[in-house]
Amino acid sequence: MIPFVNLSAQYKAYKEEIDAAIFSVLESGSLIGGPAVQNFEKLLCESTGARNAISCASGTSALTLALAALGLEPGDEVIVPDFTFVATADAVTLLGGIPRFADIGDDFLISPASVEERISSKTVGIIAVDLFGQCANYKALQAIAQKHGLWILEDAAQSIGATQNGKCAGNLSTIAATSFYPTKPFGAYGDAGAVLTLDDTLAAKVRRFASHGRNAEDLYQTIGTNSRLDAIQAAILNVKHAHFADELLQRQKNAETYNALFCAIPGFHIPKISDGNTSIYAQYAVTCSDREEILLKLSQADIPTRIYYNSPLSAEPCFARLEKTAEDARSNVNAYRLSKEVFCLPVDAFTDVQALAEKIKNALLP
Ligand SMILES: Cc1ncc(COP(=O)(O)O)c(C=O)c1O
Repeated sequence: MIPFVNLSAQYKAYKEEIDAAIFSVLESGSLIGGPAVQNFEKLLCESTGARNAISCASGTSALTLALAALGLEPGDEVIVPDFTFVATADAVTLLGGIPRFADIGDDFLISPASVEERISSKTVGIIAVDLFGQCANYKALQAIAQKHGLWILEDAAQSIGATQNGKCAGNLSTIAATSFYPTKPFGAYGDAGAVLTLDDTLAAKVRRFASHGRNAEDLYQTIGTNSRLDAIQAAILNVKHAHFADELLQRQKNAETYNALFCAIPGFHIPKISDGNTSIYAQYAVTCSDREEILLKLSQADIPTRIYYNSPLSAEPCFARLEKTAEDARSNVNAYRLSKEVFCLPVDAFTDVQALAEKIKNALLP
């Protein structure tokens, strides 16, 4: 059985370096924080252009910390895309905020026109998600945010390594949150996340919230939480960082192989990458109108597939019960259509996508 993400092959390729990094953390006794974590935060700043990188426990936690630092209050509305991983809207709701669901474009990214339609007197900000490895349309979103006095939080959980007009993902708005969940293109071997920002005041607030609200004078100034990156995960990420550029090139080649394949088969739409964007293909997401039939054929040929995401968030019970969700959902035509047409294929650097593409061709073409 071909794995959807071949993490075992990746580990075998870097085994010596990773084992050495893990043992050196164990020997150092610095298991939380310490040199491995500091080094990782420095690497993140250097590679994204952010002035501050605050590592934390997960991407979900990074979103929550960023929202807390932005001052989200109960009852505040935050516009999020209707088509994303649930954590984007969870974080808003956990702090008492109200997610308002905007539609997406054919590129799966939040639609600026739909964002503008969701703005009310209670709106405080927008979470733009760089879905499937491609950055959202920050130029249009910044114009809207400026006009209405809103902040933008970049959910870069799927985009570290991507660029937009030469700028790096994670550095395209006021503040960004990212995840190093193991199956991300740049992933740890456990949960991990980070907040990135150019703004030193926000960075200080994030660090405080992530450490129980403790300030420089050692007083618990605000309520906070415990959200820290394990040194072992940081050490693994430091090793993987050195290989990430090569892996990314291979991912992009793999996406090109699929593009050529699906352009040659009628009925499929390949990922749309906007001018000025490079994608890291966190997922290779293709669409077709007869998805269930296609998935059956692929599964019979032992080709692994995944559906990201089978339902817009506005249809999920935890959000459907919110007062304005039904109203939002009515006009989110693309989110509802694409959730029934999309499916994803393995695209990581350790999968033989040439061989897979050949199998897919045989499975789908008469
Ligand atoms: C868009 C998006 N946001 C947030 C998250 C949450 O990250 P984590 O799983 O590290 O909490 C993910 C992870 O899958 C994600 O894809």
